[in-house]
Amino acid sequence: MLLYENLGINDAGHLTIGGMDTIDLAAEYGDPLYVMDEDQIRRNCRTYIDAMTKYLPEGSRPLYAGKALCFKGLYPIIDGEGFSADVVSPGEIYTAIAGGFDPAKLYYHGTAKTDWDINYALDNNIGYFIVDNYNELEALDKIASERGLIQNILLRITVGIDPHTQEKINTGRIDSQFGVAVDTGQAAEFVRRSRELRNVRLMGYHSHIGSQIFEIQPFLDQVDKLMDFALEMRERFDFTAGIFNLGGGFGVQYTELDQPISIEDNIRQLGEHLNARCRETGFPLPKILLEPGRSIVANAGVTLYKTTGVKEIDGYLNYVTVDGGMTDNIRFALYKADYTMVNASRITQPRSYLCTVAGRCCESGDRIAEDILLQKPERDDIIAVLGTGAYNYSMASNYNRVPKPAMVMVSGGRSRLVIRAQTFEDMIACEL
Ligand code: LLP
Repeated sequence: MLLYENLGINDAGHLTIGGMDTIDLAAEYGDPLYVMDEDQIRRNCRTYIDAMTKYLPEGSRPLYAGKALCFKGLYPIIDGEGFSADVVSPGEIYTAIAGGFDPAKLYYHGTAKTDWDINYALDNNIGYFIVDNYNELEALDKIASERGLIQNILLRITVGIDPHTQEKINTGRIDSQFGVAVDTGQAAEFVRRSRELRNVRLMGYHSHIGSQIFEIQPFLDQVDKLMDFALEMRERFDFTAGIFNLGGGFGVQYTELDQPISIEDNIRQLGEHLNARCRETGFPLPKILLEPGRSIVANAGVTLYKTTGVKEIDGYLNYVTVDGGMTDNIRFALYKADYTMVNASRITQPRSYLCTVAGRCCESGDRIAEDILLQKPERDDIIAVLGTGAYNYSMASNYNRVPKPAMVMVSGGRSRLVIRAQTFEDMIACEL
């Protein structure tokens, strides 16, 4: 019923995360509240590090995809676990560096980098650019040449794999706005041109096929496509890629209906497949980079809300309203994303109350779940939404002038505030 190993029920009949009573956390820090379990984040990181060390070529490494959850205090944790990081904007670069992260270990993504963005990243000595398109390639080479430096790059290519995830988070198809397509012949031209330019140094390829993927086969197909492409580029342009960056995308369990995957087993299969392909083709083993975001932080987070009421519309449906919603978790409104929810105050009672959980915004789409079963709440009960560590805080907004909630980190039976709640003053701070 509780989905994740770090959740439990204590003697008071309350939900716990990392051994900490969620009702006490909400009372101490206020609500709504994002709670992250540092020990779980570290366990997730270690699963990647251990499996990649065991099954992938030497020099392979994971890059944490900060888009899933980005704030200063997270970077020392992922750094301590031996991760590099994927950043997608100057804002993420700024945050990572403010968190003490070594910019040489940053890989800079993004499909719409301006000259300002490129300059910002070069000013900060970013390790790698992941170049998305021709325009960026030319602009980067020009700016790097003005600075008299040679920038390491990977080229983002689209390998035309549809991993059958939701349309909006599916990025590997030929018609995707990210990267340059192999199948149209344009990716080969991308390689040719980058080899011609003096101020970029091509190190390998990047491709990302999508997010929340439960099967391993699309990743094995991706390796095949990259390998075929790399072989062709070696033949045509005498360029042997030393790095294959396979992007992120391993799926996580949000409800009991999601079959959990084994990250270790996925990485083992990737490694075996890669080794076999390299043996068969004589291509030297490339270093593999993976860019997990969701599978590092999702199951480490819960969001706690206070129930503001129960509205029963006779003959229709029951609403449970809470003091947050689409401003702190837009994933239901955007994707109809499913979550598991519990009444953290009454977790030992039967989950038998059929309801729709609505947020506080003046918007009929402000819902966190429809037609779910909860332990029947009363006003002021704490509702916990499980698995909210990824793409919740990072996608939060101030719609309806709702301040963003605080975030608390728990570890080893203690809690600490890592993000304070926004104040009304914070919200008008930029307004002149
Ligand atoms: N690398 C690249 C280039 C990506 O585009 C993404 C995610 C990742 C890595 C991390 O993927 P992950 O391991 O987290 O699946 N907002 C959506 C998810 C968008 C993902 C976009 N790219 C959601 O809330 O489900």
